[in-house]
Amino acid sequence: MKRIGIITSGGDAPGTNACIRTIARRCLYDGVELMGIFDSWDGLLKDEVRLLTRHDVTGIVQTAGTLLRSARSRLFLNKGDEDKAKAALAKHGIEGLLVVGGNGSQAAAAKLAASGFPVVGVPKTIDNDLAGTELTVGFLTAVEMCTHALDNLRATAESHNRVMVVEVMGRNVGWIAVESAIAGGADITLVPEFAFTLDDVCDKLKLRHDKYDRNYSIIVIAEGAVDKQGLIDPRSTATDKLGRPKLGGVGPMLAREIEDRLGYDARCTTLGYLQRCAAPCAADRILATRVSDKAYDLLKGGQSGTLAGLQGTEVRAVPLQDIKGKEKKVTKEYFRLADLFG
Ligand code: F6P
Repeated sequence: MKRIGIITSGGDAPGTNACIRTIARRCLYDGVELMGIFDSWDGLLKDEVRLLTRHDVTGIVQTAGTLLRSARSRLFLNKGDEDKAKAALAKHGIEGLLVVGGNGSQAAAAKLAASGFPVVGVPKTIDNDLAGTELTVGFLTAVEMCTHALDNLRATAESHNRVMVVEVMGRNVGWIAVESAIAGGADITLVPEFAFTLDDVCDKLKLRHDKYDRNYSIIVIAEGAVDKQGLIDPRSTATDKLGRPKLGGVGPMLAREIEDRLGYDARCTTLGYLQRCAAPCAADRILATRVSDKAYDLLKGGQSGTLAGLQGTEVRAVPLQDIKGKEKKVTKEYFRLADLFG
């Protein structure tokens, strides 16, 4: 291959630029031209494509965001979209594509690969919900950021005798919630995988405050968590570009319920996009470099339709078809670790 393309798609995640840099460096050494596709799949159709130079990718291993910009796109949801994409790629002489993204992006990559175009995926999303890889680029930085927030919020919770609810991202999975709760010593953790009851939450708080004489508590709740009675429900009627309900708001709802039911002073802090915009931690920079390096090798070696996934200590080729429609969820056993300290 003499010319390949790179696209970043879905929500931005720390470490994405480190992925672009790695692939650009491999291309430079091999004399392969790397075409950057800007603004994701929609940008491809609008010809927002140009050659990436050494200058473009210098000094970016440590930067947040994606220099190619990103978006959620509806391309590949309709029949015939693969042909549109292939025509746009051919127009720029692109012979193979690296797709840096999460579930939606890799589903698109799988469709393109199945239609005969050489594609390899690089796992990137703060949610860590992509199957086929133990970690996704961006996740560890998001956990670091949330843990830091929990450490700091503890001081205010304690100073004001408050229940501090912290809402973190996680539409269908609670990886960020669980890992930051373990690291930040949260008292209660609520995730989409396991519906909770408000009675349980209140009982736990009462036990801590009345029996164990604690004056504050920290609750971490993932944005997609729901209670069994449907009193706390994250789904608003507004939808995003992909038709998914816009999330956000379960934290304040929970804080209100706690105040009403127990009379404790409760507040919510929603961490929101602060989880996505941070500079990548060292572990994410290293992961980004490893999976991107492998993805380049896979594309060059003709292993289209694969994802460079971290499995144990190795990065391996995982068929995109095998992970299609699957989400990596928090297991009961893993969740137990967060629950252990409640
Ligand atoms: O990147 C994934 C994610 O962080 C989800 O947890 C969240 O629901 C979503 O992005 C929101 O992103 P946006 O508002 O940019 O669509």
